[in-house]
Amino acid sequence: MHSSTQLKEIRQYYQQQLVSQLGTAVVVLNDRLEVKYLNPSAEATFNKSLNRLLDAPFVECFVHCSLDVERLAQVVRTGQDFTDSDVILELIDGSRISLEVSVSVIRIDGKTRVLLECKQIDKQKQINTEMFQEQQWQAARDLIRGLAHEIKNPLGGLRGAAQLLDRELSTEQKEYTSLIIEQADRLTNLVDRLLGPNQLPKLAPMNIHQVLETVYQLKKYDNAKGVRFIRDYDPSIPEIDVDPEKLQQTLLNIVGNALQVLDEDGQIVLKTRIATNQTINGEKVKLAIKISIIDNGPGIPASLQDKIFYPMVSGRASGTGLGLSIAQTLVHQHHGKLACHSYPGRTEFSIILPLPKRPNQ
Ligand SMILES: Nc1ncnc2c1ncn2[C@@H]1O[C@H](COP(=O)(O)OP(=O)(O)O)[C@@H](O)[C@H]1O
Ligand SMILES: [Mg+2]
Repeated sequence: MHSSTQLKEIRQYYQQQLVSQLGTAVVVLNDRLEVKYLNPSAEATFNKSLNRLLDAPFVECFVHCSLDVERLAQVVRTGQDFTDSDVILELIDGSRISLEVSVSVIRIDGKTRVLLECKQIDKQKQINTEMFQEQQWQAARDLIRGLAHEIKNPLGGLRGAAQLLDRELSTEQKEYTSLIIEQADRLTNLVDRLLGPNQLPKLAPMNIHQVLETVYQLKKYDNAKGVRFIRDYDPSIPEIDVDPEKLQQTLLNIVGNALQVLDEDGQIVLKTRIATNQTINGEKVKLAIKISIIDNGPGIPASLQDKIFYPMVSGRASGTGLGLSIAQTLVHQHHGKLACHSYPGRTEFSIILPLPKRPNQ
């Protein structure tokens, strides 16, 4: 065991050292959105020193900055953080950079400060990877659809024939025909589950927090390990067209998986935010809702990471591997995107649902 002073010293030492060494560009603004601090990574990214930018209004530090100033001001007022995954900055030297910027409000010495964490992204690479995964998933689905058709037709014939035969047989012999019928039904059922949900969603405008609350109420009690739930909602999120039952099933599947891997120290965060400039299956969406389910469990095994959304891929001996595949289909039916980022200690599933364009956009 380490003494608490020792731990405190270690923490202080690294907290001081880290900001200057981070690969992430960190910017601190005051409540008037003027620059108060840049870490070295931010100085390198923006090609400007703290000396030049100190006290300058952030958005005026660049020839062009696509970050929504109104949203930044809103963050100061409401404290609701947000992430813009496609911020374009044009620097004085004419170069353009794409960043993913997470904006949050912090308090330092009693003062309100806005923290910007900026990660440079290779947009095209990210879009290509997503498109590739999407195509793979579609190909797997097509294969299953084709196979299912080929299996179900002869299976129907087999069952029908067994039923006819059943009428001709004596009571003892009926045991065999009922076995055939039972097993045929079992196979049909499996194939149907593999095919996933096939009814179209019944969309109606609603507040997604109602659905999240139902999921929370259902899972809060159905969890013997005492996993802690944290709800972190952005109440300003507008109503959106969803099928509440389908969204609920999606969330239950994801939360259920997390509960399976968590122990007594487990924690699940249900978080909602507005997300701007997202790419959903190769298409740009200006405004979207992001629902995140974040757990502090062991993470998804590296060998599974690229294929967890495929049907019948499971890391558990008793798993069916259908939960996430069904979730993916349901999110697709809402024209949204289901994504996952996982490393040991943090797994985040995010559902991105596009918000309709406002008339003036
Ligand atoms: N939150 C999570 N943490 C760690 N692993 C996960 C998590 N969610 C899903 N997985 C992994 O993904 C696999 C596939 O999940 P799923 O499609 O729901 O099938 P099943 O739950 O039947 O195994 C799981 O077996 C598990 O290995
Ligand atoms: Mg599951």
